[in-house]
Order: sequence, then C-alpha cells, then structure tokens
Amino acid sequence: MATDDRTWKPSRRNLLLNGAAGLVSLYCDLETATPSRVSTSAARRAQADSPFEPFRADLPIPPVLRPSRRTATTDQYVVTMRTAQVEILPGYSTPVLSYNGMLPGPTIHARAGRRVEVLQRNTLGVETNVHLHGARAPASSDGHPRDGIPAGTRRVYTYPNRQAPATLWYHDHTHHATAEMVYRGLAAFYLLRDGREDELGLPQGRYDIPLMIADKSFNADGSLRYARDLNNGFLGDTVLVNGAVQPRLRVERRRYRLRFLNASNGRDYSLELSDGSPLTQVASDGGLLPRPSRVRRIMLSSAERAEVVIDFSLYRPGTELVLRNGLGTAGTSSVMRFDVVRGGSEDFRPLPRALREFKRLERPVATRQVVLDRQIIPRVEWQLNGLGFDMDRIDTRPRLGSTEVWRFVNRSTHTHPMHLHGFFFRVLARGAKRPGASERGWKDTVRVDPGETVTIMPYFDGYPGAYVYHCHKLEHGDQNMMAQMEVTA
Ligand code: C2O
Ligand code: CU
Ligand code: CU
Repeated sequence: MATDDRTWKPSRRNLLLNGAAGLVSLYCDLETATPSRVSTSAARRAQADSPFEPFRADLPIPPVLRPSRRTATTDQYVVTMRTAQVEILPGYSTPVLSYNGMLPGPTIHARAGRRVEVLQRNTLGVETNVHLHGARAPASSDGHPRDGIPAGTRRVYTYPNRQAPATLWYHDHTHHATAEMVYRGLAAFYLLRDGREDELGLPQGRYDIPLMIADKSFNADGSLRYARDLNNGFLGDTVLVNGAVQPRLRVERRRYRLRFLNASNGRDYSLELSDGSPLTQVASDGGLLPRPSRVRRIMLSSAERAEVVIDFSLYRPGTELVLRNGLGTAGTSSVMRFDVVRGGSEDFRPLPRALREFKRLERPVATRQVVLDRQIIPRVEWQLNGLGFDMDRIDTRPRLGSTEVWRFVNRSTHTHPMHLHGFFFRVLARGAKRPGASERGWKDTVRVDPGETVTIMPYFDGYPGAYVYHCHKLEHGDQNMMAQMEVTA
C-alpha cells in the first residue's frame, strides 16, 4: 500500500494555518504547483483497520445561526472568520478555516422579501472575500474580487432576498486563493424559503436536510492535505457530508427533502441510490423545478445544487440505502447511507404535480459565445475567449432586464462548471439536445463537458453593476478562468 506521506512535501502554501505567509505564495507559484498526489490519507489508512469505516458517523446538521438583531425589515447576523480545530476523524483534531469555528459554517435561514445583513469579521490574518452563491444581490454585496476584506477588518453584506426560494451557500471568494480557502472550510448553507413553497407540502423542519458534499484528503496527523491541481481541480480521496466522513442518517419511514450541494473544489458526482430506484428531483440551483421529475441519477459538478424528495416509507425497517457516486472509486464511490428505522410520523399528502410556474421570457437581445480553453505558453492559465481574468477589463455588457443567449464552447479536455454571479439562466441545449429533466429549472451553474457546447439563456433581472462569471472548478477560477460583465440599465 502506497504511503505517500513520504512523497508529499510540505510547501509554503501548507503553512496557511500557521500564518499569513502561507497564502502569499498562492499568488505567484503557478508554474511550480505540485501535481496533486492524493491517494493515501489518515482516513483511508484508518479505514483499513476499521475505526473510520464509512457509515460510522451520524450525519451532522450544521446549526442554524441566530440573528444578532431583528428589525421590522431585516435580520442581522454576525459571522467571524477564524481558524479552528474541528473533529472530522474520530480522535483527530483538524485545523480549518471557518465561519464561526465550525465546518461547514452555520446555516443562515432567510425568508423571501426579508432583508439579511451579514457582518463578516475577518480574523484570519489574510485577506478574504465572501460570496453568497445563488444570490440576486447588489454588486457591492456580491463578493466581487475587488471587494476583498483585508485582514483584521470587517464588511457588511446586504442580501435583499427578492428572489425565489432556493438552496444558496456562502463561501470564500478571495482573489486567486478561493480554492484553498474553500477547501479548508469556508463554506456554509443559506436557505431561502417563502410562504408559497411552505404550502406545497414538501417535507419541512427536521425532514428538510441540507447536505454539503465535499471531498478532502488528510495527512497522518489528521490535518487537511491540499495540493493544487490546476488540471482537474483538487480531487480528494475521502467524501465528507456536512463535515463527516461518509455518514449515515437514520430515517423514519416517511418522505424527506434532501438538498444536495456539491461544495467540492473539482470533483463531479453522479448521485444514485444503491437499490437502483429513481430519485424525485424537486429543485435545482435556482429553486423549484416546474414539476417533480424522476431521474435515475443526478449529475452534480462544483457548486451545483439538486433537491430531491425520497419516500422512505417504501422501505422496510432495517434497510440500508447507500447514496452512491457513480463517478467515484474507493473512498469517493459512496457518499452517505440512509438507515431506515421503525416508526415514522405520518405524512399522507401526495407531492404536488406542479411546483412552480415559469413565465415566458422576453426574446433574447444578444447572442454571445464563450470559448473555454487553456493556454500553455507562456504560462499555464485557463481562459475564457482567449483571455485570463482582468479586473480592469469588462468582457460583456448585458442590459438590465434583458435576456441573452450564451454558448459555452468547451474546446478543452476537462469539464467546466460555468457559473454566473448575480443572475439565473435556463439551459436551452446541451449539444444539439434538450437538457435533461434535472436542468429544466433556473440555474446559476452548468456543467460543460469536454468538447461540448452548452447553450444557456441568462435573464439579467436583478441589480446593475459589475459581476463576475467563471468556472467553478475553483482552481480554474483562481487561475484565471473568470470574466466580468457590467450590467447596465
Ligand atoms: Cu460559488 Cu463565484 O462562486
Ligand atoms: Cu456565485
Ligand atoms: Cu474549468
């Protein structure tokens, strides 16, 4: 069995947790980046001799953050970005970068139409930046790379929540350093709900569960191992859900709403149930789908969300149902397990046939092409339309309130999850085909496979200003697969 602790050389960037100096190296060491070599980890080794077998830990649910103040219109929150030690592997303490000392960070619950203000205090000793992914927020609160939070300072973000209910998440967005910061723990849920959705009879309360999926690797001492892989994005050897290694969840014989988020840096998942039964998907990035749809598997690339309803009353008590990752191997081939237990509260209401109305969109006023590719010479960099990100350059100027057609043309041999800040889009076509059922709602991130062209229709309904769009393989985005649009009235 390989023990690549021996082959793994600590680099300056691994010193991140010991001091600010570690991060500085991230900004300029593209050519010297070590290839990722992440096959052995404390988790994997431990699995071999048992205490950390999969399905040993109970699924943790990140705590809901309490507002520090509530006014007639606004809920105010305070979050502190700080280093912390958390227990991911039983008996080990893992240093992380955190929101409020936990991994994932605390969940924010928001109601549509009610404003949220988050005061983010940066005590990490390095510059950070916070982005609420999936938010229709004013540009000044969007976490634009120019709006970093210098070490030792704070910033208030305002989220109007004038948008449909959906599963959002907040995560770090530090310029050129997002990948490592998110990997080391700066990610959390933000769940937006509204009264209309509440009335649909979807499972609520403790039967409505957010699941943050992210792969990691560990050093022998239990610390997180990170090596930047500019090709694939970081690929870990161990899947965590809500910060626990391949956990299990005891489920009653009733329906649950499960909100999957792929918070991995680079890994794609194909989620499927071990008994082969279909999943009933009810929502994607931008909230509810037009109607529930039964799908065999759910493809999820970085930052994508999919919500499903699973009816565990169809299973006998004692059933162990594994949520598999069809794209994984070994420690990444299963995600978690549902253990069906006796009993269960009654829930007889059938799922509604229609979940949400989709209004017809205006005719698109522009068609744009975005070529996804890599430059090798003079240095390796991922690019959009032949250019790496430049904060001082505006790449696209959509008009506020309009719709456009964008074609993502992937000329590379890697998958790129393409993400727009500030606005949602519909997926019109994947190649020449209509998108699958999972992609028929509003999206903010879409997977573009090697050689593929994906056509989307963004709707620039939101706030004016400069927003970025980028590849959400975080190492790609950091190393320059990002561009900027200025949306003007
Ligand atoms: Cu979740 Cu700019 O990204
Ligand atoms: Cu985003
Ligand atoms: Cu990419």
